[in-house]
Amino acid sequence: MSQVNVYPPSAEFVERANVSGMEAYKALYKRAAEKPEEFWGELAKEKISWMEPFSHVFEWEPPFAKWFVGGKTNACFNCVDRHVLAGHGEKVALLFEGEPGDTRKVTYSELLADISRFANGLLKLGVKTGDRAIIYMPMIPEAVVAMLACARLGVTHSVVFGGFSSEALKARIQDLGAKLVITADGGWRRGKEIKLKPAVDEALNDCPTVESVVVCARTKGSVEMVHGRDHWWHAVEAGQSENCPAVPLDSEHPLFVLYTSGTTGKPKGILHTTAGYLLQAAMTMEWVFDLKADDIYWCTADIGWVTGHSYIVYGPMSRGATQIIYEGAPDTPGFDRWWKIVAHFKATVFYTSPTAIRALIRQGNQWPEAHDLSSLRLLGSVGEPINPAAWEWYYNVIGKGRCPIVDTWWQTETGTILIAPMPGAVPLKPGSGTLPMPGVMADVVDLDGNSVGANQEGYLIVRRPWPSMVRTIWGDPQRFQDQYWSRLPGNYFTGDAARRDEDGYFWVLGRVDDVLNVSGHRLSTMEVESALVRHPAVAEAAVVGKPHEITGQSVCCFVTLKKGDFDHEALGKELRQWVGHEIGAFARPEEIRFSDALPKTRSGKIMRRLLRELVTNNTVAGDVTTLEDLSVITKLAAQHDDEA
Ligand code: PRX
Repeated sequence: MSQVNVYPPSAEFVERANVSGMEAYKALYKRAAEKPEEFWGELAKEKISWMEPFSHVFEWEPPFAKWFVGGKTNACFNCVDRHVLAGHGEKVALLFEGEPGDTRKVTYSELLADISRFANGLLKLGVKTGDRAIIYMPMIPEAVVAMLACARLGVTHSVVFGGFSSEALKARIQDLGAKLVITADGGWRRGKEIKLKPAVDEALNDCPTVESVVVCARTKGSVEMVHGRDHWWHAVEAGQSENCPAVPLDSEHPLFVLYTSGTTGKPKGILHTTAGYLLQAAMTMEWVFDLKADDIYWCTADIGWVTGHSYIVYGPMSRGATQIIYEGAPDTPGFDRWWKIVAHFKATVFYTSPTAIRALIRQGNQWPEAHDLSSLRLLGSVGEPINPAAWEWYYNVIGKGRCPIVDTWWQTETGTILIAPMPGAVPLKPGSGTLPMPGVMADVVDLDGNSVGANQEGYLIVRRPWPSMVRTIWGDPQRFQDQYWSRLPGNYFTGDAARRDEDGYFWVLGRVDDVLNVSGHRLSTMEVESALVRHPAVAEAAVVGKPHEITGQSVCCFVTLKKGDFDHEALGKELRQWVGHEIGAFARPEEIRFSDALPKTRSGKIMRRLLRELVTNNTVAGDVTTLEDLSVITKLAAQHDDEA
C-alpha cells in the first residue's frame, strides 16, 4: 500500500464537537455494542416526540426487524411541530435559491402552515392514511412540503427523481399502486425549462390506480390539465385551514418507498418505516455532521435520491436545522455557482458527491478562489469512493485545510450513514470512510462469513439490524430475503467489497454485483440491457461499467443486432436516446459497441467479467477457460483497435 496521509481534527474543532476525541467515540460505540436496546431506547425517548410510548425497543424475526414496538409518533411532527412548540418557529428552515436567481426564506412556523394547508387540501381530494403517493418534482421548497404533508397524514411517499423518464415513472406508480401524484409544470436546469408534467401524463395512460394529480406552478410554462384528475397546487391549498393535526402512526408505519436498482431489470422498492429511520437520521446529523443550532447546512443532493430523504428532509429537519436548497445545475451560469451560494448564505456544512468534486476540479481553482468560503467548517462526501487526489483538493482548495471531510458510506437500504468519521474524534485518511457508527456491527468477511484479516479484501456485511434498516422490498419479501439475508443468514449483505486496515478503518472498494455507480447514482446492468433489447433492432445486449475520470464509471454496452442492414453510427445514437427514454437521461450509455456475438460460457451466460476487463484494459488476461468461443473476445478487442 502506498503511504496514507492522516489528518487528525484540530484542537479547535475537537473543543466544539458534539463528540470530542477518540475516547468519546469509543465509549459510544462500546455502549451501543454491549447494550443496544438501552442505547437506542434512551436516544429514542430523548430525540423523538412520542404520541404513545413504545413498549419495547426491538423485535427480530430474521430478516424482519421492528424497532420501538407499540410506539406512536409522526415524522412530520418531529421535523416541524416539535421545533415550533419548543419556541423556534421563527428559525429559518429553508434558504431556497432557484436557478434563475429567485430566493425564498421559509421559517419553521411558515413551513408548518404551508404543510398543514396542503395536507388539508389532500384530505379534501380524498387521500387517506395508508394511501401511496408519487412525488415527481424539481428541487423547490414545495417538494419538501409534499413529502412532509404525506408523512403528516401517514400517506407513504415515493419520490421519483425528475431525471427519470415517463416509462420509469410508470413502472414505479404501478408497483406502488399510487393513488396520488404530486408534480410540477417543470423546473429550471442549465437555463432551460425541464418539463415534468408531460411525462406524468404519458405515464398515467397505464396507471388506473391514480385518482388525482397535483401540479405545482414553478416555471409557469404551458401545461395540459385533465379535467377532474388534475389540480393546481395553489387551488388545492387555497382556503384551507392552517391547522391539520399530525396523525399518530405506528413506529413501523411505512414512511416511504424509494426505488433503487438491483441486479435484475426490475427496480426494487426499498421500504423505510417511521421511528427507527427518523432516530438514526437525527443521530447521524449530530454524530457525522456535528450539527449545531447556528449551522447553515447544505446538502447538494436531489430529493429523488436517498441522500435527499435522509440528509435534506428527515435528518436535518428532525434536528431543526437551517439549510440551503438550490434548484439547478452547479455550472449555471458559471462554474462558481455553488461557491457563490456558499458565500452568500455563509454555509457552514457542505455535503456533495465525488463526481461533482472531480467535475469542478477540472474547471480550475479560479472558480472557488473568487469567493469567500471562510464560513465553511465541515465538508462531506457521499455516493461512491472518493479518490485521494479529489479528497486533497476538496480539503485544501474548498476547506482551506481547516475543515474535516466526512466520507460517508451508506446505501438506500441502510437508510442512514453507517460508516463515517465523527469529525471531532476520528483522524481522517483520504479515501476511507473510517469507522462505523455506534450500533453498526460492520465486518469484512469471506464467503463463509469469517472475518478476513487486516488489509484483506472481502465482502462488507453488517452483523446486526440497525434502526434505519430497510424493512422489506415493497411487494416482494422473498426478494428481500434472497437479496440481503440469504448469503450469510442473519447478516446483512451490502453487495460492496471492502478491506479494513491495521487501524480498523474501512476502505470500500465498490460493488461485487452487476450494479454500476455512475456519478454516485446506482444503475443496474440488467436494467440497461432490458431497455436495449426492447429496441426492435437489438438481439442481445451486455452492459458493463467502464472506469471514468469524472463520473467514476460510465455505461458501456455491447450489442448484437437482428438480421438487417444497419448504419452503426446512426443506430448507436438512436440506442443512446432509447435508453434515455426507457430509463432517464442520466442512464444514457457513453458507448455502444456492435458485435457479431457476445462472449458466453458453455451454459450460455454472458461473461460480463471479460467485457469489463476488455473495456478497462482493452485486453483480456483473466480466466477464459469457460468461454464458449474464444475468438469472440479477440474480435471485440480488435474491433475497438480499428475504431480507435
Ligand atoms: O457501492 C456503495 C456506494 O454506493 C452504493 C449505494 O448506492 P445508493 O443506494 O444509490 O446510495 C447512494 C447514497 C448513499 C454503495 O453500495 N457508496 C455510497 N457511499 C459511498 C460508496 N462507496 C464508497 N464510499 C462511499 N462513501
